Amino acid sequence: MSEATPVIEARGIYKYFGAITALEDVNLRLMKGEVLGVVGDNGAGKSTLMKVLAGMYPPNKGELLVQGQPQRLRSPRDARDLGIEMVYQDLALAGNMRIDENIFLGREHTRNALGFIPLVNHKLNAVRAQEHLDRLKIQVKSVNQRVEELSGGQRQAVAIARATALHAQIVIMDEPTAALAIKEVRKVLDLIKDLRNSGIGVILISHRLDDIFYVCDRIMVLFHGRNFAEAPLGKTDRNEVIGWIMGNKSKENVSAGMPLS
Ligand SMILES: Nc1ncnc2c1ncn2[C@@H]1O[C@H](COP(=O)(O)OP(=O)(O)O)[C@@H](O)[C@H]1O
Ligand SMILES: [Mg+2]
Repeated sequence: MSEATPVIEARGIYKYFGAITALEDVNLRLMKGEVLGVVGDNGAGKSTLMKVLAGMYPPNKGELLVQGQPQRLRSPRDARDLGIEMVYQDLALAGNMRIDENIFLGREHTRNALGFIPLVNHKLNAVRAQEHLDRLKIQVKSVNQRVEELSGGQRQAVAIARATALHAQIVIMDEPTAALAIKEVRKVLDLIKDLRNSGIGVILISHRLDDIFYVCDRIMVLFHGRNFAEAPLGKTDRNEVIGWIMGNKSKENVSAGMPLS
């Protein structure tokens, strides 16, 4: 596999829900250490595309390649085994459990009691969780804190820590800053930059163009379930992107100040 092989590539993806065509001939490529912003109006197909990449929905047609190899993902578990992790909008954390338990939930370090019964090694989990949070420069009072005691931004950070705790190569985030206070948004975006710098490919869905322009390397626009436009961030600007989101390719017709923040 060369440096130019996408870490994940979707080719000609179709997804139907009954009579609705959610995705129509969609292509996507993500490179190692790249942050790809995926934008589009409500219903454009962003979340559906991410769920196809994360193994939640089988596409009706089309091909997925992971590190250049064709793959069929039958479940999120299949995706995870290939290093594809998704941070869900509702985060899917267990509020009544501790931070370290959440980070390794279902994937705990074990020790053998009586030499053969695998038991969760809580001490090792706590140590590994703290090391991982340190690596990500995520600050919490203690890994023993329950997730329900954390702020929205800290929860998002824990969800990202969970997604990257093992061998993630690709992290997909669907609106990770939507529910956050302004001062917490920057921290999450900086965390995404750190992931990128460590070689992880990130796909970020956001309707906040400020977030997209702060953290992404490239942007791709879906419109009515189809690829509409794509550009490196340096080659476009907010107005053009707003136009694309509305299905408009001529810059002149776009007025500034659309309610997209
Ligand atoms: N589980 C589902 N069942 C039926 N229709 C769905 C389902 N998920 C998404 N859709 C439809 O597919 C289209 C794309 O939705 P979605 O991917 O959620 O868009 P976005 O995330 O860009 O807002 C919409 O028309 C939506 O109503
Ligand atoms: Mg969505």
